[in-house]
Amino acid sequence: MTDRYAVIGNPIAHSKSPAIHAAFARQCGQDLSYEAILGPLEGFAAAVEAFRREGGMGLNVTVPFKLEALELADQPTDRARLAGAANTLRFDREGLFADNTDGIGLVRDIRDRLGFALRGKRILILGAGGAARGVILLLLQEKPAALAIANRSIAKAEVLKTQFASFGDLAVGGFADFADGRFDLVLNATSAGLGDASLALPGGLYAANALAYDMVYGKGETKFLQDARSQGAMRCADGLGMLVAQAAESFFIWRGVRPDTGPVLSVLQGG
Ligand code: ATR
Repeated sequence: MTDRYAVIGNPIAHSKSPAIHAAFARQCGQDLSYEAILGPLEGFAAAVEAFRREGGMGLNVTVPFKLEALELADQPTDRARLAGAANTLRFDREGLFADNTDGIGLVRDIRDRLGFALRGKRILILGAGGAARGVILLLLQEKPAALAIANRSIAKAEVLKTQFASFGDLAVGGFADFADGRFDLVLNATSAGLGDASLALPGGLYAANALAYDMVYGKGETKFLQDARSQGAMRCADGLGMLVAQAAESFFIWRGVRPDTGPVLSVLQGG
């Protein structure tokens, strides 16, 4: 029997995950199906249980259920607990295993696909919401020279500083506090990314040869990346690579093989 997996979210119709996992399955010669489930806003846990009862083996979880997914877990990984959210569930004999592959997906996309080493670099995260929280631990584990978080509301960044204090030091402040910060990598983890409005960023954020990375993606270059180019970033990348890389990590958790993300990403990029 074909092994069943799915992504659950609300909305879900435009999810790229079914196409990505179908491509991974073909590439790795794995016999599995992967569907998209529209999760009811008031019935996430019941929908997960129904899928398991019908023989489902694992789920990806997306907006707005990632926090609930963590709460449901019998065995969450440390990185999911610290992210405060789970995007990957696996039904094990011992119970519900939950992980979060966003942080490792981001690191692998930047470090391995783009060939941009993070060790010893100065990194700035813009934003202090769920997207930022999901990647801090994995970035700290790369041993950057500095990891800073700039947020519109400084109090939210300060909470993250406290939460991650035992893993490394975070410099936190408002956007203006990092003027002339000369970062090697500036990551946009705000949800302002898809609008046309620019973030009110100060001058001098980018070091020579800096990479600007937008965790979201859209049709064409995002506003953040357009601005980054004119503000001095030498290289730009959007979050499509992270999307494929986090999916590859989920696939690895379920199937024990790690697909090659490159060919799948280039199909999504239309290349
Ligand atoms: P997500 O899960 O996508 O991170 P979130 O938890 O709602 O979503 O967090 C949104 C982040 O984007 C926050 O850091 C928010 O800043 P505030 O904490 O100050 O609200 C940031 N954000 C959203 N719109 C923004 C804007 N127009 N300018 C600056 N920051 C913005």
